[in-house]
Amino acid sequence: MKHPIISAIEERRTINLFDTSHGVEPEQIRELVRLATSAPTAFNLQNWRFIAVHTAEAKARLRKLAWDQAKVSEASVTFIVVGQLANHLHLADRLAPSVDAGLMPPEMVPGWEGAAKSLYFEQPQRQRDEAVRTATFGAGTLIYAAHAMGLGSAPMIGFDADAVAEAFGLAADEIPVLLVAVGQPAPENWPQKPRRPLAQVLSVL
Ligand SMILES: Cc1cc2nc3c(=O)[nH]c(=O)nc-3n(C[C@H](O)[C@H](O)[C@H](O)COP(=O)(O)O)c2cc1C
Repeated sequence: MKHPIISAIEERRTINLFDTSHGVEPEQIRELVRLATSAPTAFNLQNWRFIAVHTAEAKARLRKLAWDQAKVSEASVTFIVVGQLANHLHLADRLAPSVDAGLMPPEMVPGWEGAAKSLYFEQPQRQRDEAVRTATFGAGTLIYAAHAMGLGSAPMIGFDADAVAEAFGLAADEIPVLLVAVGQPAPENWPQKPRRPLAQVLSVL
């Protein structure tokens, strides 16, 4: 029997048409984000935030800033997946639960802080790259969590990032990296589209 994760990878497709009569409960939103935050991040920095745009009013507001893409408001919920500029000063807080759990020896923390500082301090491009990587891993994991919960999803970059940051109160160190619409797929959606042949995308050295 095929492993369910492999089935999910093969079955997932971008949903363009959502069942507008379908809603998700706040508890499902919390579960989706709980699962999404299991994704890995550099140094376990967890430099992300998920804004669940759930009410009709908030979805309409977001849709106006997202090329009027209907799925933003027709999905049950549309997440703004936010990446935060990587900052070594946040690391001690983020590692404390691993130290408290006895996973990480406390004396290891300064070494990780030093490595993070040498990577990110006064390096705006790297800080931003990490924000985008973190949010992308989070969004990817959210998409498969939704699939596992019987829901479809649509990642979107078609939006005005500055306007979304302003309208939804993002901090100066936060970037709206992706929107992810989640809901019940309508019957008419396309299957997953064909991919480029492996020979074009894989090098084995
Ligand atoms: C980063 C990213 C941004 C995307 N932005 C949009 C978008 O703004 N609107 C849209 O309809 N689809 C968007 N898509 C969906 C892609 O068009 C879709 O994943 C691709 O065509 C492959 O389709 P499939 O996932 O169903 O195989 C985006 C996908 C990704 C990964």
